[in-house]
Amino acid sequence: MITLILFLLIISYSRQLVAESEIVDFVTAGSDYNYSIDFTGGEKTVGIRRLLNGDDDDKWQFYHFCAKAKSANKKNCGSWVDGKGNKIKGEVTLKATLKGKNIVMSPVLVRDEARYASIFEDSEDQTSIVQLRVRPPSPLH
Ligand SMILES: *[C@@H]1O[C@H](CO)[C@@H](O)[C@H](O)[C@H]1NC(C)=O
Repeated sequence: MITLILFLLIISYSRQLVAESEIVDFVTAGSDYNYSIDFTGGEKTVGIRRLLNGDDDDKWQFYHFCAKAKSANKKNCGSWVDGKGNKIKGEVTLKATLKGKNIVMSPVLVRDEARYASIFEDSEDQTSIVQLRVRPPSPLH
């Protein structure tokens, strides 16, 4: 009986994981991270957005690529802004560059731990969310 209950618990837990459709990925602090846009519709990416760990769902930050930005987003392209287009205050050093089928982010620091996702002009387009975890550099190096 207990085995059955455990089995059912595991099944429902793994269902939840699948429903979230989040990818967990790792990067070493201080290095670059390539966010791949090699998926259907990925070429329509105009920027990247992120939700820092511990922030509420209304605190997404946005970074528009200047080569792709239009109208209002042209003004604040190339820096991280909030949902109203205001520059994020505090220390934000992470740069994002579109290179082929990758968004190269550098340098990724521990404070950049967040969920990352593509921005599309058409908000209906879907992307998967990468939950990026930043590992401290190895003490041996
Ligand atoms: C990241 O993407 C850039 C541009 O596509 C590429 O030159 C570089 O080798 C990639 N780095 C890794 C670690 O895959």
